[in-house]
Amino acid sequence: MKSYLLLFILSICLYFPSMAMNFSLDSNPDSVAVRGIDNSLYAQDNEQNCLRCHGELYYTIEDTLSGSVKRRLMGEHLRVSRDEFYSSVHWNFNCLDCHSEGYTAFPHALELRFEESWGCIDCHGYDEKFAKYNFEGIEQEFQKSVHYTAMEGEFTCWECHNPHTYKVHAREAQSSENFIVESNNMCLTCHGSPEKFGLYSDRKLGGVMTKHDWLPNQTLHLQAVRCIECHTMQGDDVMVAHFVTPKDNAVKNCVDCHSQNSILVGSLYKFQSKEARSKYGVLNGVILSNDSYVIGANRSLFISYGGIIAVVLTLLGIAIHSIFRIIIKR
Ligand code: HEC
Ligand code: HEC
Ligand code: HEC
Ligand code: HEC
Ligand code: HEC
Ligand code: HEC
Ligand code: HEC
Repeated sequence: MKSYLLLFILSICLYFPSMAMNFSLDSNPDSVAVRGIDNSLYAQDNEQNCLRCHGELYYTIEDTLSGSVKRRLMGEHLRVSRDEFYSSVHWNFNCLDCHSEGYTAFPHALELRFEESWGCIDCHGYDEKFAKYNFEGIEQEFQKSVHYTAMEGEFTCWECHNPHTYKVHAREAQSSENFIVESNNMCLTCHGSPEKFGLYSDRKLGGVMTKHDWLPNQTLHLQAVRCIECHTMQGDDVMVAHFVTPKDNAVKNCVDCHSQNSILVGSLYKFQSKEARSKYGVLNGVILSNDSYVIGANRSLFISYGGIIAVVLTLLGIAIHSIFRIIIKR
């Protein structure tokens, strides 16, 4: 009887460590700490040159002859939010670093609108300082994507990386949910907006939700995984996959995520998975540390091994018990 009691206590002990596994993500906040309008060298220039119009709901025009003034509405897509701009990765830029000097004159001349903008690679390519992002590798993947191949020249990195608002999400994420929503919004600016989508394609945009009807609990899924988990081919040398494949290649198989070798460990949790893969006694414990529980992908090694040990000990107990009975009977 005693050995069973011991076993019972043992299994409880084995179970508990698996419940206290929360640990904080290894994030890198110092690169954002200095951002902000107060620290930007160009805040004043930007204000005078551009944001007095592009940062406001209204701008005014003046007839230089009569002196009469009119108020006009600044179109939403032409508005640049100060908050977002000065907390984005390019917060310490002069608008004129990327836009032609000619924009200081209003009305803006026609030919300015046909000038080509800088690409990410022009500034970030082959630069030690940004090597950890592997811009060159990302560019190669992007050039294989459906967007690039269908709309070469027209579809650039800027279509997803809003030049005035982009922040690094996954790499600097504090909580998984935020960065998932923000990443998905990068896709939904088009795939969720018929107007924006229509700029690039004459195809009619179907609702994103109806295209994903087969997925149970859609809202939860789209908060827990990024679009790119299912829509990209994962490569090894970049941290965020950029090879968006045609819809027929998208992940539809539940088991791809809901299994022990879940693709999520190599995509969604790539930034954390190196340190935390099985350290916490749970298979794919990194998923749990992000407040998710993915059926099939999470398995406590304590419980699994504890179970095996329990069975072995029970058998051992029975064996010893039987041996003693046989000896005593004799
Ligand atoms: C007097 C207000 C005003 C100022 C100052 C101003 N803009 Fe504009 N800008 C507008 C308006 C209004 C539009 C939309 C009408 C148009 O396209 O001409 C516009 C359009 C634009 C566009 C879109 C052009 C296109 O067709 O693709 C860009 C880019 C732009 N502005 C950049 C700038 C930059 C950069 C500055 C600062 C150097 C600036 N603007 C200063 C009012 C202004
Ligand atoms: C890092 C480079 C960069 C900086 C800095 C930058 N822009 Fe832009 N901006 C771009 C690019 C690239 C586009 C074209 C986006 C596209 O093609 O989708 C653009 C587009 C615009 C547009 C037109 C938007 C539209 O939808 O047609 C406006 C207006 C604008 N910028 C204003 C500004 C103002 C004001 C600032 C300064 C506060 C600024 N930009 C700073 C790169 C930049
Ligand atoms: C005109 C040059 C220029 C262009 C074009 C440009 N960048 Fe940058 N970018 C910079 C500079 C300079 C910094 C560093 C700013 C700082 O030190 O805060 C930076 C910072 C960044 C960072 C943060 C790096 C870090 O570790 O702090 C990211 C991410 C980034 N850019 C992504 C992009 C992407 C994506 C594109 C294209 C869509 C792009 N950049 C286009 C010049 C550029
Ligand atoms: C179809 C949309 C899309 C296009 C096009 C795109 N990106 Fe991205 N990119 C994303 C998404 C989504 C993320 C994930 C956001 C995050 O976590 O920062 C991302 C992340 C990144 C990062 C951060 C990666 C890291 O390790 O932290 C860089 C750098 C980057 N992209 C560069 C580029 C460059 C360069 C191009 C063009 C050659 C490009 N992107 C084109 C959607 C796109
Ligand atoms: C600037 C607009 C824009 C953004 C942002 C954008 N897309 Fe697209 N995407 C399009 C357009 C337009 C097409 C249609 C291309 C064509 O005509 O074949 C497309 C096609 C696709 C397809 C192929 C569909 C098919 O029929 O095979 C997939 C998958 C896709 N996008 C996923 C994404 C994902 C994932 C993101 C975010 C990482 C994203 N897109 C961001 C505009 C966008
Ligand atoms: C769990 C995996 C998964 C996630 C997450 C996911 N998709 Fe899909 N998506 C698919 C599959 C599979 C299809 C193909 C469906 C079919 O053809 O029956 C598809 C189809 C599409 C299409 C093609 C629609 C068409 O024209 O037929 C687009 C565009 C698309 N998804 C965009 C997105 C965007 C944007 C997100 C993020 C908000 C997203 N997807 C999230 C798996 C996913
Ligand atoms: C791209 C990866 C991925 C794919 C593919 C996927 N799931 Fe999930 N699923 C998740 C994640 C992540 C969660 C965890 C959500 C959370 O708890 O935060 C989840 C949660 C669930 C849940 C639990 C919902 C709840 O209420 O707690 C069910 C049920 C589920 N998925 C069923 C499915 C089925 C059925 C399929 C196939 C048709 C599927 N999933 C495909 C990633 C995926």
